[in-house]
Amino acid sequence: MVYPPGMESFGVDVSGGYRLPRPEALMTEFLLLKPAAPEQLPRDVRGFTGRSAELVRLDALADGAIALLTGPAGIGKTALAVRWGHRAAERFPDGQLFVNLRGFDHVVPPMEPAEALRRLLTALGVPTRRVPAGLDERAALYRAEMADRRALVVLDNAGVATQVRPLLAAARNCVTVVTCRNQLTGLIVREGAQPAEVPPLAPAEAAQLLGHRLGPDRVAGETLAVADMIDRCARLPLALSLAAARAAGRPRRPLADLVGEIGAPTGCGHPHADVRAVFAWSYRALSATAARLFRMLGRHPAHDLTATATAGMAGLTVGQATVLLAELARAGLLSEFAPGRYSCHDLLRTYAAELASTRPTLSSGTA
Ligand SMILES: Nc1ncnc2c1ncn2[C@@H]1O[C@H](COP(=O)(O)OP(=O)(O)OP(=O)(O)O)[C@@H](O)[C@H]1O
Ligand SMILES: [Mg+2]
Repeated sequence: MVYPPGMESFGVDVSGGYRLPRPEALMTEFLLLKPAAPEQLPRDVRGFTGRSAELVRLDALADGAIALLTGPAGIGKTALAVRWGHRAAERFPDGQLFVNLRGFDHVVPPMEPAEALRRLLTALGVPTRRVPAGLDERAALYRAEMADRRALVVLDNAGVATQVRPLLAAARNCVTVVTCRNQLTGLIVREGAQPAEVPPLAPAEAAQLLGHRLGPDRVAGETLAVADMIDRCARLPLALSLAAARAAGRPRRPLADLVGEIGAPTGCGHPHADVRAVFAWSYRALSATAARLFRMLGRHPAHDLTATATAGMAGLTVGQATVLLAELARAGLLSEFAPGRYSCHDLLRTYAAELASTRPTLSSGTA
């Protein structure tokens, strides 16, 4: 009998005789049959900048720790958790789990813990028929599945402590990172979660973000306009990304002119009121059809948009939807978190919904 090359490593005697497979070969096969470790982290934010102190603090988390990243919408909590997850991947050979709990969504209700557990169990390779019906049973199975793993769990956009509690694996070798706009004091007091407030980017980090997107020469040549742009964006990474995308699309215009287009600050002292002017500035630059699609997204649960789904939703061809989604992503109004899959940040979706209440959308048949 002729065996394919390499079979000897599985204990097969290629000279024609037979011998029992070696134990380590059986182990190899057993390991090969194990489902692959889940890798659910979205891809890194393009041009991720700064946050060195926060990343070092996350590096120092002990096994079994629960980190709680808090801060207002668009400050960069998810981006930080995801960046650290990729950076620390080697520490978690049994996988990285990620679930968006939608605690602050204004279109779809927050995810029930039972549904989050179903998703986590499925990601760990538990067949659907083995996922129990009740919350407590799901939580118990999840703890058992996680007990011997070294895994990272990111619970993104948690709303309240009761939503998170059943999802804590209590596994000695796992680290859980929760992101939330609120303090979740209950989680700190009862579960010993370690809170860290994510601050706005430091001015130098914000300048670095713009430099990365616009090129160091353009930024170095207009330091005053850069400082102005950073102020107009309230050092909020979400707004800075939009401003950078807009300026990158007009490489010949002086930054000072572009900042002038954003309009005067409201002077009301609320940073989100001012960053809305940055949103409006990006929105005004869209083609009419992309603007209509953007307004429509304000009314849809836009966490995982593909060209096919968008085409169905908006009455477009897949080709048209592909082009429009790319335009919105170039403007920074959508992020492509995996190839061909887009999401719209909550703050931008709220803005889109406000626009939709006053103007027609694609779905209202005016494309
Ligand atoms: N450190 C960073 N460097 C570059 N861009 C960043 C950084 N942090 C965030 N961003 C940009 O800002 C956007 C908003 O960040 P992110 O989604 O992490 O905010 P968030 O705090 O999780 O908001 P929310 O509370 O609404 O979930 C990102 O999509 C990305 O474009
Ligand atoms: Mg987030």
